[in-house]
Amino acid sequence: MNSAVIILAAGMGTRMQSDLPKVLHKVAGAPLLIHSMRAGDGIDAQKTIIVAGHGAELVEKVALDYNPDAQIVIQSEQLGTGHAVDQARSALDGFDGDVFILYGDTPFISADTLSKMADARANGASVVVLGFDVPPPSGYGRLVMAADGSLDAIVESKDATDAQKSIRLCNSGVICAPSALLFDLIREISNENASGEYYLTDVVGLARKRDLKCAAVECSAQEAMGVNSRVELAVAEGYFQQNARRDAMLNGATLTAPETVWFAYDTVIGRDVIIEQNVIFGPDSTIESGAYIRAFSHIEGAHVSKGAIVGPYARLRPGAELANDSKVGNFCEVKNTQVGEGAKINHLSYVGDATIGDDANIGAGTITCNYDGVFKHHTEIGARAFIGSNTALVAPVRVGDDAMTGSGSIITKDIPDEALGLGRARQENKQGLALRLMNKLKAAKAAKKKG
Ligand code: UD1
Ligand code: CA
Repeated sequence: MNSAVIILAAGMGTRMQSDLPKVLHKVAGAPLLIHSMRAGDGIDAQKTIIVAGHGAELVEKVALDYNPDAQIVIQSEQLGTGHAVDQARSALDGFDGDVFILYGDTPFISADTLSKMADARANGASVVVLGFDVPPPSGYGRLVMAADGSLDAIVESKDATDAQKSIRLCNSGVICAPSALLFDLIREISNENASGEYYLTDVVGLARKRDLKCAAVECSAQEAMGVNSRVELAVAEGYFQQNARRDAMLNGATLTAPETVWFAYDTVIGRDVIIEQNVIFGPDSTIESGAYIRAFSHIEGAHVSKGAIVGPYARLRPGAELANDSKVGNFCEVKNTQVGEGAKINHLSYVGDATIGDDANIGAGTITCNYDGVFKHHTEIGARAFIGSNTALVAPVRVGDDAMTGSGSIITKDIPDEALGLGRARQENKQGLALRLMNKLKAAKAAKKKG
């Protein structure tokens, strides 16, 4: 069955107290909106339509960056969730398939859950609603179930009778229905209710009037959670991290102190990876099986291969690619660099815009001078090269295979294979001068005290 998702994201998000539209606030390094879009990807939705309003330009930019095929429709006045969905009518004109309504501020709805809703559709329900169990009192719409276990109506809290208010099964807001039926029912929604809004939820009652079957699918309250304030944003971050840590461990990674490891929304962790305390992942990182990430490392946009060791206290920035059994040690920063198999950058170095050959050794304090203030330049270090401590490699520059640099060198010219590059002042020793100098200084200090 073809499917489309409509993501409602027009609201102001007043309680965020923010100039940024609510759906662009981040959990695990990605805007809330992107979490919802990923759920749509998980069911291979053919179309993604985002209903934007407040901050629409910013929302559009983020959405299209993630998926250039997404369509943005504008809801200039927020007249209710039914009205919001109606804005997607022409974008879905002629679309023959199921529509899932998602929300830009409800980040955790999983593709599995959406598949369950699709199953309920396949089993004969025309409209499927996602519910979750919360004890009353709550402000959510209540799912009123019929005796046969099907869904009879959704009643908004403001419009509910006391008996209905005691219902625990609440409306997450996520709804699935065939496109043509959905937009047909939406035409019949009125705004005669306690809020004066066009309630999307009315489609259930309207479908029942036509004797169509409706169904509810249930997920956890955590999955259905919406973010309305910074406090809830922090709670959402906590949920995300708990689940990501658990998943990493269940998939075979050891986390020495799981509560101190922070994953990004898309971090990939292999089997038999060990992650020590206080490690932070930014977006777009993959840690392959058997890699070892030591404490206090910060990793973003990096690929760490099998058997590589990172940290403690290492920083991998976007484009850092560590081949098998390579090593990036304490207080090293690596950016846009391929580190060859078995190569080592062990102490206090900055390596950026470089290629490092297999089994090369980068001495303590090595710096690639990659930036001239305007342009970035590349440094190439050959296989088995040995870079002496405190070498400055002024890019663009190439150090050959099996070549060396002398400690403290400033290397501005290419070094051929197997050659030693020395770029430093020659040392001179002055006999007795240290002692003479010290005596002179001591005498000056004594004279100063007397005077
Ligand atoms: C809605 C549901 C309620 C459900 C709850 C779950 C309706 C009528 N009620 O209530 O049953 O329990 O969500 O959180 O649907 N939005 C727009 N344009 C609008 C109105 C809303 O884009 O004109 C967006 C908002 O930005 C928000 C979402 O839709 O992200 C939900 O709207 P909101 O007004 O918060 O609905 P609730 O009253 O919470
Ligand atoms: Ca709400």
